[in-house]
Amino acid sequence: MNIDGNPTRTIWPLENAVEIIDQTRLPHEFVVHRLASLEDAAEAIRVMRVRGAPLIGATVAYGLALAASRDAGDDALHAAGDTLIATRPTAVNLQWAVRRMLARLLPLPVAQRAAAAWCEAAVICEEDVAQNQAIGRHGANLIQAIANRKPGPVNLLTHCNAGWLAAVDWGTALAPVYAAVAAGIPLHVWVDETRPRNQGASLTAWELAKHGVAHTVIADNAGGHLMQHGRVDLCIVGTDRTAANGDVCNKIGTYLKALAAQDNGVPFYVAAPGPSIDFALASGREIPIEERSAEEVTHLSGLDGEGRIVKVRLTPEGCPAANPAFDVTPARLVTGIITERGVCAASREGLAALYPERV
Ligand code: MRU
Repeated sequence: MNIDGNPTRTIWPLENAVEIIDQTRLPHEFVVHRLASLEDAAEAIRVMRVRGAPLIGATVAYGLALAASRDAGDDALHAAGDTLIATRPTAVNLQWAVRRMLARLLPLPVAQRAAAAWCEAAVICEEDVAQNQAIGRHGANLIQAIANRKPGPVNLLTHCNAGWLAAVDWGTALAPVYAAVAAGIPLHVWVDETRPRNQGASLTAWELAKHGVAHTVIADNAGGHLMQHGRVDLCIVGTDRTAANGDVCNKIGTYLKALAAQDNGVPFYVAAPGPSIDFALASGREIPIEERSAEEVTHLSGLDGEGRIVKVRLTPEGCPAANPAFDVTPARLVTGIITERGVCAASREGLAALYPERV
């Protein structure tokens, strides 16, 4: 997507290195960060310089390419995969990318593996872009249908950041937004701030502004009120892992939005590219939920009056805090899942019909 008119991706390869946009510095600073080793890739995922399930998958693929450039033996590649998978537990894209890379590399002679790893990582990135573009087309049809039956802009609510910053390009939940805007459909996005890390306020608001999409940031608690007053036409969120029965794991707070949407008759869609669907898990109850540092709840960072990024404490000193980073929205609250292969019911049958080769 565009930054001030310039098409930009979140990750790109160099000669034996990879560059990423450091998302811990947005929206206040645009910094390109270089990954030169497996350890750099693992650190970038762990501290969330890169985040969002599809982009984490792409970074894992390049992390294995960096590892293979150093040692492409079986043991080294397995160990690199384990290191990368251990960085974050919830998004299934880490395991997916490691499985895919190892399946491609291990049958090859060791001398050919590094070159093949760089190629395969690039293929994974191109597939990510194509999948999200297709999600954009399918999702834009849903937005168009709403635009056809109401005057004024379509008001779409999204949670966290499932935009192009969460993928290689386009994003998942925001791909339909970009496709709809490109098609000239009048659209406005309600952006949940998404405490505690504020990916909505800092990342979604930044990328929508840079691409020129109308949007308004709201406190996480405002969505239900806006839905009660007819100010939300549909919700589209992303997913870090969707189980085989259509239960959707996404950023903490998604479940509450789905409940409010159900109560108010607002369609609630989930954008899920194939690699984010885990057919090995029968239901969302089996998805591991990442517990993150309490400091993300007790503290906030932002710009002070002198333009310096500072961190401030919100809570009484020593206040206990809990920080589950994801929740599971049961399939019964999901109107439909938007995949690269089309829109389906959030159910075992709906997903199996689109991905028969995976069940
Ligand atoms: O913790 P993060 O920022 O990596 O969380 C991922 C997300 O941004 C969301 O949960 C998103 O909706 C799914 S990833 C497209």
